[in-house]
Amino acid sequence: MSEASTVRRTYPWGTTINGTQVKFRLMTPADSDAILEFARTLPAEDLMFLRTDITQPETVKNWMNYIKTGRTISIMAEVEGKIAGYASIHLNDALWTRHVAELRVLVGLDFRGLGLGKRLTNEGFGIAKDLGLRKITAQMSTDQRSARGVFEHLGFRPEALLADHVMSRDGQTHDLLIMSYDVVGFSNDSPGRSRGS
Ligand SMILES: CC(C)(COP(=O)(O)OP(=O)(O)OC[C@H]1O[C@@H](n2cnc3c(N)ncnc32)[C@H](O)[C@@H]1OP(=O)(O)O)[C@@H](O)C(=O)NCCC(=O)NCCS
Repeated sequence: MSEASTVRRTYPWGTTINGTQVKFRLMTPADSDAILEFARTLPAEDLMFLRTDITQPETVKNWMNYIKTGRTISIMAEVEGKIAGYASIHLNDALWTRHVAELRVLVGLDFRGLGLGKRLTNEGFGIAKDLGLRKITAQMSTDQRSARGVFEHLGFRPEALLADHVMSRDGQTHDLLIMSYDVVGFSNDSPGRSRGS
């Protein structure tokens, strides 16, 4: 894990995206039920490729344990008090990859294409910078076609392709694409950020 493990960004903060008021805040174990509720709204294609099955209470419990220990930092986007999406930064235990973290972003179907994934990713970048991380990876199956396009728009570059490396819920194997982003040089200020609202 990173030596400097304090998130300096202030939460919650709010902004309006396409006329919708969105609140960004850090996820806490008290959000477990809301996450399970959010997971139930996800389309079959997303559920097919979930890295961990967040429809299961046990999986969410493990996630919350990582949040408690600081190994995972998750930021939620809320619309009208409900989860619209989240981004998670997963830190590395291994000494020689302590400067690298994985970003996972998930936006609810109703909120896609509005720029929320980009905002959440920016939050993830800011946190990564606060923590002294240098490199962020994002992993997706090559069958998650739009995800690659989105991450390229966000500044990630394809770095590795691992054949038959992931297995979807239905037992089929798929190639895994690892994309990366160099945190050094990222500016911590996201446009339109208004704190404390
Ligand atoms: C990937 C995901 C997070 C994107 O969220 P989103 O809120 O729809 O993304 P945004 O609206 O912020 O779009 C971000 C950028 O990608 C572009 N984009 C959006 N959809 C796209 C698509 N289907 N193909 C290519 N580019 C696309 C946008 O134009 C935007 O680019 P810009 O910054 O140049 O304007 C969302 O689709 C999702 O949750 N997918 C399922 C989970 C997943 O695959 N996660 C990725 C692995 S961690």
